[in-house]
Amino acid sequence: MKKFLDLISEEMKNAFEAAGYDRELGKVTLSNRPDLCEYQCNGAMAGAKLYKKAPIMIANEVAAKLENGQVFSEISAVAPGFLNLKVTESFVSDYLRQMAQTEKFGLEMPEKPAKIIVDYGGPNVAKPLHVGHLRSAIIGESIKRIARYAGHDVIGDIHLGDWGLQMGLIITELQERQPELVYFDESYEGEYPKEAPFTISELEEIYPTASGKSKEDAAYKERAMEATFKLQSGVRGYRALWNHIIAVSVADLKKNYADLNVDFDLWKGESDVHDVIPGMVDYMKKEGYAYISDGALVVDVKEDTDTKEIPPCMILKSDGASLYNTTDLATIMERMREYHPDRLIYLTDKRQDLYFEQVFRCARKTKLVEPETELLHIGFGTMNGKDGKPFKTREGGVMRLEMLIKEINEEMYRKITDNREVDEEEARQTAKVVALSAIKYGDLSNQASKDYIFDIDKFTSFEGDTGPYILYTIVRIKSILSKVKEQGELPENTSIREAGSEAEKALMMEIAKFNAMMESAYAETAPHKVCAYIYDLANAFNRFYHETKIVSEEDQKKKAGWVALLMLTRDILETCIDVLGFSAPERM
Ligand code: ARG
Repeated sequence: MKKFLDLISEEMKNAFEAAGYDRELGKVTLSNRPDLCEYQCNGAMAGAKLYKKAPIMIANEVAAKLENGQVFSEISAVAPGFLNLKVTESFVSDYLRQMAQTEKFGLEMPEKPAKIIVDYGGPNVAKPLHVGHLRSAIIGESIKRIARYAGHDVIGDIHLGDWGLQMGLIITELQERQPELVYFDESYEGEYPKEAPFTISELEEIYPTASGKSKEDAAYKERAMEATFKLQSGVRGYRALWNHIIAVSVADLKKNYADLNVDFDLWKGESDVHDVIPGMVDYMKKEGYAYISDGALVVDVKEDTDTKEIPPCMILKSDGASLYNTTDLATIMERMREYHPDRLIYLTDKRQDLYFEQVFRCARKTKLVEPETELLHIGFGTMNGKDGKPFKTREGGVMRLEMLIKEINEEMYRKITDNREVDEEEARQTAKVVALSAIKYGDLSNQASKDYIFDIDKFTSFEGDTGPYILYTIVRIKSILSKVKEQGELPENTSIREAGSEAEKALMMEIAKFNAMMESAYAETAPHKVCAYIYDLANAFNRFYHETKIVSEEDQKKKAGWVALLMLTRDILETCIDVLGFSAPERM
């Protein structure tokens, strides 16, 4: 379906043409004086220079051509040459009726869907998730869903950190504690136990302990590096232990991400490209891209136009070990081979901006990707506490994601049960759903690259630009619809009618913006546009609701029209929160 604004522009362009002017002058935009008009066209001003004529004369001529049309109810040419416009009630209601009947409310699908891989989440095995991982998961999930809704072929990959020194550290600490474990017996040739010799909580304690020790004790660190090397070169017992670490950790991660309504199509990790690295390194050397500098193997990535220093991309350290870079480049190579994506999108903290610049340049220069492959890094800002510093626990430690979610759940539960008799079980369930909206909307409503303040009081409020406010609006609509349903006397044919009030028309015009909004949210990878849209839509709905007695309306035709309008509003709101990665309860 054509976008609402495009249809309006079309009408205006025809009028410019009919009056003898270039039709491209007829571009219509939203009014920047909503007190005067709904839309405006400034084409006569541009035309004045072209045709050497007073703009007001052009505007008057164009306005005359529009007089008997179906689209505009008001066209006024005002000095010095603006066209101020209002659209007819029937034009809006026709458009909405079509939206209601068309798949995805008329959002046009791409001729050829793009293949997209979104690399997000990026947790590190055996380390608990902390708030730093929250944004990558929330924003990445939404970008994935928006792209999918826009008709593209999207794969989400978690890209686990599962291969570096942290693995060697854990193995070393395990050996300290349980040297008798069969995994450390290098002469052992039998099968290894199926059960892991540790639980997730032990694992989460082992890593920080080991990491702490390695910082104080050089010999310990040496051993951890040795263990990492043994693991990476395939020593059986080490691989078996590593498999346990991955299995225990991944089971826990799956639970945590499920609680966040985040799900990945691929659970691949850095380790998956271990075997790809030697071939990639050979290729880079053979083609003359990589050379030895101070013992390390590097690829130059600086360009003449650089205004700041972009250091070379290091492929192998002088001891031959691979780096974070190396696995990312090998992963690009592997992804191209296996999926041949048109776009690769990465979500990390913006502190990795320079890093991704180097990796992308290196991937292009060494032709791991095709010239038309799009590489996009979305670097997000920091989630701060009210003090403006990175979010911490009350004691000042790193906030674990589980704790944060728990805290919000409690706060939401308190709000929901405040002064009310509610079923405990249902209230807990509802609190969880609403809490997730608070967290996600609080994050996504900001432009990703900006830092933001995680303000629990604000985010959990039922009023203002918040997730709970959006859910509250949806629940309100659902409740009106079920009240009407209980009355059981509506005519069969419920279809949207011409607006009978200014508030109703305003609501309808908000709805009409849906497909243009979704298109730009995709094109600009900008979930905050979806948030801004539903906030406006919810406000427009609530204004209409406060002015209109729907349930007690006597005129059945009128009422049926409103029911259709409410259903469309609800469906659009629910579609939008779904692409943001949360949902609404039935009641709250
Ligand atoms: N594991 C990394 C970290 O915690 C994030 C991985 C991001 N993705 C990537 N392909 N580098 O910083």
